[in-house]
Amino acid sequence: MTDQETPAYPMERAMKCPFDPPPQLKSLQEEGPITRVRLEDGQTPWLVTGYDDQRTVLSDPRVSSDTASPGYPNAAVAKNYEAEGEAPQEQRPKIGFILMDDPEHARLRRMVTAPFAIKRSEARRPAIQKIVDDAIDAMLAGPNPTDLVDAFALPVPSLVISELLGVPYADHDFFQENSKVIVNLDVAPEERMIGMRNLTVYLDDLVGQKMKAPGDDLLSGLVGRVESGDITRAEAAQIGVLLLIAGHETTANMIALGTLALFENPDQLALLRDSDDPVVVAKAVEELLRYLHITHNGRRRAVLEDMEIAGQAVKAGEGVILPGDIGNRDPAVFADPDRLDLTRDARRHIAFGFGVHQCLGQSLARVELQVVYSTLYKRIPTLALAGDLKELPFKHNAAVYGVYELPVTW
Ligand code: HEM
Repeated sequence: MTDQETPAYPMERAMKCPFDPPPQLKSLQEEGPITRVRLEDGQTPWLVTGYDDQRTVLSDPRVSSDTASPGYPNAAVAKNYEAEGEAPQEQRPKIGFILMDDPEHARLRRMVTAPFAIKRSEARRPAIQKIVDDAIDAMLAGPNPTDLVDAFALPVPSLVISELLGVPYADHDFFQENSKVIVNLDVAPEERMIGMRNLTVYLDDLVGQKMKAPGDDLLSGLVGRVESGDITRAEAAQIGVLLLIAGHETTANMIALGTLALFENPDQLALLRDSDDPVVVAKAVEELLRYLHITHNGRRRAVLEDMEIAGQAVKAGEGVILPGDIGNRDPAVFADPDRLDLTRDARRHIAFGFGVHQCLGQSLARVELQVVYSTLYKRIPTLALAGDLKELPFKHNAAVYGVYELPVTW
């Protein structure tokens, strides 16, 4: 197959069902377990289509998350998160440890695993419930119709992560705006780099403040690690940037897109609205995570050693894309995978990734989504889409899929 014949890697979800992976991607899954795809920059990495094979690759130490590794798919896009012109490597703003390999990745991730442990996230449930209730009160007191993203989906996780990190929520316009620019792949690279630099300078400044006056928050904990020589101040700021972006962008999109998917599946919405059972809610959250798979442009990795993937010999220096959205729709693992069924056991989904980079904030995200989905539709039973789904602005070309706006009425 020549490069020209290699199918383009499809990113755009079809408006017929904006919750499904692109139809071309599903066709590639039907055709076989591994194939080459063409990226905009001409690269032709391997695309691994099945759930089991994706998990195998994601847990293999012979694949790298480092954008500097030869063959990393579309490094130019990912590098915008960390490069700044020709600045020396150590001076470039980096996005925490998500694009690093072990042992460096593990060393830095270890600094922040405790605050995201399941028990610690559970302990936050009452505080999260209060944040959600207050946001609903404010929304009900405001104009009707309103934009659910602005009035609810963004403020809730932003408040939760600000409180956890020790970032003043009063700065939310600043950090939300910059995060939005960084994850929007339609924005010019230079602008995204400015967004990254803005957040890095902001977090570095906060770390500096917490050195003088530590509080009872995650950033102050990181300052302790700087003082004991475990990490540098720059690393503390970079971890702060990662947690701040990952902590609100993803969950906000799950809240808005999940609500839209429930509007389109009223029988499923009724299950949530009519139940007080936490097990029903927990199952619903897992299924919505599986079904929507918002980190929609695939996990990206570079192969470090010659290896076999899904029966195919793959060479060191080649790229691999692992699109979890089709992994989560693999019919060999999930029966009738394109149906949103809140009663199914979807816990095996890979919406939080797999392997050493599996989402650090997943227990926090679960608690947030459980509180939101069990509260919002009960407190506002008449909540409905105000307008036409086909008119909604979807985030096709962004690091995280969702809607930019969701007009609702009640
Ligand atoms: C529903 C919400 C969320 C989804 C769908 C999600 C999804 C993901 C995925 C797919 C990865 C793996 C990236 C990879 O393998 O390259 C990841 C990593 C990560 N997530 Fe989340 N995430 C969510 C919420 C959160 C929250 C609330 C936080 C809190 C700060 C968070 C922090 C992180 C971090 C720090 C990593 C990097 C882990 C590592 O590289 O070791 N995420 N997330």
